[in-house]
Amino acid sequence: MTMTRRAFCAGLAAAPLARPVFGQDMPLLTAQIATVQLAPEGYPATPVWSYDGTIPGPVIRAGQGSRLERRLINSLDVPTSIHWHGIRIDNAMDGVAGLTQEAVQPGETFDYAFDLPDAGTYWYHAHTNSMEQVGRGLSGALIIEEANLPDVDRDEILMIDDWLLDPDTGAFVDSFSDPMTRSHGGQIGNLVGVNGRYGFKLSAKQNERLRLRLINAANAQIFGLRLEGMRGWTVALDGMPLGAPEPVTDMLVLAPAQRMDLIVDVTAEEGEAAGLLFAAADDTWLTLADVLVEGRAASVPRGAPEALPPNPRMEVLGVEDAAVLDMPMQGGAMRGLESATFDGRRMGWQELVQNGQFWALAGQVGLGDAPFATFARGETGRIRMTNDTIFPHAMHLHGMHFRVRNQDGTHGPMRDTVLVLPNETTEIVFVADNPGKWLLHCHMLGHAASGMTNWIEVT
Ligand code: C2O
Ligand code: CU
Repeated sequence: MTMTRRAFCAGLAAAPLARPVFGQDMPLLTAQIATVQLAPEGYPATPVWSYDGTIPGPVIRAGQGSRLERRLINSLDVPTSIHWHGIRIDNAMDGVAGLTQEAVQPGETFDYAFDLPDAGTYWYHAHTNSMEQVGRGLSGALIIEEANLPDVDRDEILMIDDWLLDPDTGAFVDSFSDPMTRSHGGQIGNLVGVNGRYGFKLSAKQNERLRLRLINAANAQIFGLRLEGMRGWTVALDGMPLGAPEPVTDMLVLAPAQRMDLIVDVTAEEGEAAGLLFAAADDTWLTLADVLVEGRAASVPRGAPEALPPNPRMEVLGVEDAAVLDMPMQGGAMRGLESATFDGRRMGWQELVQNGQFWALAGQVGLGDAPFATFARGETGRIRMTNDTIFPHAMHLHGMHFRVRNQDGTHGPMRDTVLVLPNETTEIVFVADNPGKWLLHCHMLGHAASGMTNWIEVT
């Protein structure tokens, strides 16, 4: 049976409806239009879609083990919803319009309330027409603090983003549904910034120790990053602590939606260059965040930091006995798709393109009525993704973190988004311990919007 989008939504009888709740004192988060100076001084300001009027949205901080509550007020003139990326969340609060809730209509509200089992660096963003809504600014940092904070002098969030702006008007170039963008690498900006600003600056002292929380909020851009005038260690990926801090020796790669916590010692002396650099397309390094060194905090740097305390449930057991499920990743420009299932019907490439669809996961374009796989709660999942396209894809699983299984049977760090390069096969393993319907999709948002979205179910 073919299921239309409407029928699919109507079938979610148990999903919470968007409706106002009275007499409750819940902190608000308002999706609204605003005007923000994203471009350098001298260029016009940009009309954006924002949370609470700022880009990025307000930083939300909460303690591990606590409960987070936010009432989304939709003051935009389009429906929206919020996804709390990387939180091992109650399914009903996951924010996926059409799967876990109905989109919140203009003028309506939705109450999000959920427990926070894990410490770490997360983010929140729109999950209704994400390509455009995240592109226009609907995202913010979500920081869950450890009960015992690591020994650092300061904690800094660096939310990295890119924007495709018209230099004459400051407005976003409205190419969000451009087939060229969607069928290729995705929307890449002409301006890169940090915390909603081009030319972001931070001041620090020599030998000061900072925790840098890097978040890639870009629509499609993969950042190659390097430290200058600082010595650093990676201590967490996608919120999850590494078993041991890893010294930063060469380029760090941060794909869309990925996060990385670094602990860095500022080694530069007063007046020397320091900061976070990124690899530009022409092989030069450009400054993303400038660290202005003034004065000295200590006579010597502190040396290797301790590991962050582990989060609960970080082991993936039972992998040997679990079945491997294959998920070929197909489509896009240059390779195309012979045929795939869209809207309940098998279609050839021409017809898919006419429907604005370019990508498939395991032969399925976009959400079908049946999940890619169903797991019993507590079962171990193994999904082997093979990238048969000529583009890299940042694959994100909702609701649970996973590890990458190496050829030799060892497992990589726990994370929620993994970059799968062209012609590469990446197997993820996870414990399906969170009941509900969970997306598995590419976080190049144009790809996700044109077919590269599937889902799994944990019963
Ligand atoms: Cu960061 Cu499906 O989302
Ligand atoms: Cu992709």
